[in-house]
Amino acid sequence: MTSANGGREFRLPGLILTGPGCLGQTGAATAELGVNHALVVTATPLRESGAVDEATAVLNAAGVATTIFDEINAEPTTDDVEAAVATYEAAGANGVVGLGGGSALDTAKAVAVRAVHPGPLSLYQGQDQIPPGRAPLVAIPTTAGTGSEVTRFTILTDRARDVKMLIGSATVIPDVAVADPNLTLTAPPPVTASAGIDALTHAIESYISRRAQPLSSSLALSAISMIGANLRQAWANGQDLAARRAMMDGALVAGMSFTNASVALVHGMARPLGAYFGVPHGLSNAVLLPHVMAYTAPEATGQYAEIARALGEEVAGLSTAAAAGRAIAAVQSLCSDVEVPGLTALGIGRDQLMPVVAAMANDALDSGSPANNPRVPEASEIVALYEQAL
Ligand SMILES: [Fe+2]
Repeated sequence: MTSANGGREFRLPGLILTGPGCLGQTGAATAELGVNHALVVTATPLRESGAVDEATAVLNAAGVATTIFDEINAEPTTDDVEAAVATYEAAGANGVVGLGGGSALDTAKAVAVRAVHPGPLSLYQGQDQIPPGRAPLVAIPTTAGTGSEVTRFTILTDRARDVKMLIGSATVIPDVAVADPNLTLTAPPPVTASAGIDALTHAIESYISRRAQPLSSSLALSAISMIGANLRQAWANGQDLAARRAMMDGALVAGMSFTNASVALVHGMARPLGAYFGVPHGLSNAVLLPHVMAYTAPEATGQYAEIARALGEEVAGLSTAAAAGRAIAAVQSLCSDVEVPGLTALGIGRDQLMPVVAAMANDALDSGSPANNPRVPEASEIVALYEQAL
């Protein structure tokens, strides 16, 4: 939020745990919130990988009883949330622990809200619509991507209207974020790539956003450096703990930035790719990022030159415009090296895209995110950008 005199607020979780093994501190941190019975909101594959067992063991060891809820969709819905709330109430839980990728964390945030506020969740769609107060909330990401563990956003599909709702509110910022890179060691290369480019997109978009502020901008450049220097290695060798840690920290820092600065055109255009074609969020951003950067460059030359520096490009002696070009080339080469596909490779050709692309462009504009971009597009320009991504 911005005050009338231009003052800004900057919000984050009260406790952020980082580094290999920090999951072990989760039990004490959860108990400190007054939780003695947590609903663990997660996805079935994590139950199978052992991550859920590990998390519940540390919670139980700290005297926090656990009930597991793992019936969530990859694109979570209001029905998933209501089913989880019913489980929460039946178990007599008094806190929520989200464990997983963005889907699990977004669901957990909404469960913590619905545990104390009436439904339907559509009451809270938009910005700052949730009254203060929710159940204690701990967020444990298992991918280095969304930054949801520190953000004020949750995105859910409203089953009643079949639309994706963005809910943005300080109320959903978790109390505790637990960013343990050990949980990402088994992520396969395509997940590492799309999650990593999603995080890079958060950092780049929050840096160039019209709603950036000095605190968010310094974090954004730091995140760009960490991600730019480590994504290739984390993708090539998933067991490289140093690279995994840098990616986990980079995604978290990017989240700290964009939750206080907002995202821009890439995210505005990415959401319709998910809604119309089911392309996962990280991949949607990844296929669009280089094209949108090239489009935006004329209005963000100075910022892109700084991004090039943060990506480790040698820009001494170059003009600002040439340095900005290096940022775009560096991001293109990073996406290529970690094998980000084009839309055609995802089964979306011209025949599939063109019948719906005008509606997608309108949805992108309606989201409000494109208005944060330094170069604000017309609908026809968004259509052209989707075509470039084929
Ligand atoms: Fe994102």
